[in-house]
Amino acid sequence: MDKKQALEKLRDRFGDRLVETGAARAAHGRDEGGYDGPAPDAVFYAENAHEVADAVKICARHRLPVIPFGAGTSLEGHVTAPKGGLSIDLSRMNRILALHAADLDVRVEAGVTRQQLNAWLHDQGLFFPVDPGAECTLGGMVATRASGTNAVRYGTMREQVLTLEVVTATGEIIETGTRARKSAAGYDLTHLFVGSEGTLGIVTEMTLKLYGLPEKLMAGVCRFPSLSAAIQTVITTIQSGLPVARIELLDELSVRAVNRHSGMAHVEAPTLFLEFHGSPKAVDEQVESFHAIASEYGGSAPEFASKQEDINRLWHARHQLYYATRAMAGGKHVCTTDVCVPISRLGDCILETRADFDAAGIFGTMVGHVGDGNFHTIIAADPHDPVEMQRAEDLKEKMAHRAIEMGGTVTGEHGIGSGKRKFLEAERGASLALMRQVKAALDPFGIMNPGKVVMTDDRDDQPCSGRH
Ligand code: LAC
Ligand code: ZN
Repeated sequence: MDKKQALEKLRDRFGDRLVETGAARAAHGRDEGGYDGPAPDAVFYAENAHEVADAVKICARHRLPVIPFGAGTSLEGHVTAPKGGLSIDLSRMNRILALHAADLDVRVEAGVTRQQLNAWLHDQGLFFPVDPGAECTLGGMVATRASGTNAVRYGTMREQVLTLEVVTATGEIIETGTRARKSAAGYDLTHLFVGSEGTLGIVTEMTLKLYGLPEKLMAGVCRFPSLSAAIQTVITTIQSGLPVARIELLDELSVRAVNRHSGMAHVEAPTLFLEFHGSPKAVDEQVESFHAIASEYGGSAPEFASKQEDINRLWHARHQLYYATRAMAGGKHVCTTDVCVPISRLGDCILETRADFDAAGIFGTMVGHVGDGNFHTIIAADPHDPVEMQRAEDLKEKMAHRAIEMGGTVTGEHGIGSGKRKFLEAERGASLALMRQVKAALDPFGIMNPGKVVMTDDRDDQPCSGRH
């Protein structure tokens, strides 16, 4: 690697949009999951794909690592720079380029956030459903194959992407896919890049599917006498084929966190936050069917919000839960984890995890996109207490292995980053070798977000840093 020469060329080419201050570097080497550094050597604020391609070409020539950066809201150490390198910040590439309302699709640059897109779409009667909690960029969401609360009805990023414009590891600009809703033409490169976390190329533009705003929408909460009752209700709801738009589990402590952080007054009990979409008749039927299932397990009658602003408040509070738990944890380090299992195993998975928590005396909220069999624990541990930190790490590890044993995955939505690489082999077994071959073929110089997803070098393994 010839770092000095690469940085000189980048300075010449991009002038003051190549920033090398300590503050900019540090801000680009940390994410919201508590992974703090190592920082990149420089940050480049790109304005278009050609610039990204030029930057990658310079880096490729000098073997300088390249780390794409959207909003820095990832949770598994996706943006750290274990080998230094150039952070390419795509947040200025935030133009909405073309709306094809008749085809229900939109073309955007990678730095557009989901909130920006939805605010812009609202007057058109359309929306984009994928909603991780953070104010994240759509490029980052493609890179991590993100999902959120609507995935149970609309799918994850995997289901929404029609085409991608990608800058490859050698600095070529390619387009994958077409605006046709399906295609049988060749290898599915679009979905190879979705979830590749910047390790195969950099997504600069994309075409995404859109949906009409539902004619009727009902959102509200349903309380349960126990965690188990709430989970059984979810499992039966999904097994009955009820097309819920959102079905989110919050344990007692999560409800307390939400109440404190977002000024709400929900009863502190295991609770489902729910939403139903459809024609008025369809929604009424869904609500009735759900109510019947919930009552079988002792659930309260669902309480629905009547005003749109109350519905917005409810989901805003849910989206803030990670931050709410952090606030409630005081000065402790907060580490979140994310597993996903087949729906029939969800009850065992959550309840066994709950028992582990209680046995370890660990403080943590449990929350989940449970309609997908996906849930998180948000664990607090004192960074100055190595025993507690280790206990939290052990819990995370136990959850990951339990999910694998149950036929599930070590991450439903947050991704592998650097934090979960050690579990990828356990989950994927021999197919990991093929992933490494794909990585070597697409990234011949090993410059694309090194140290993430597939381990090419064990030395850069790195635990949560304890920033929070
Ligand atoms: C959530 C984030 C942590 O579901 O994925 O709140
Ligand atoms: Zn989540």
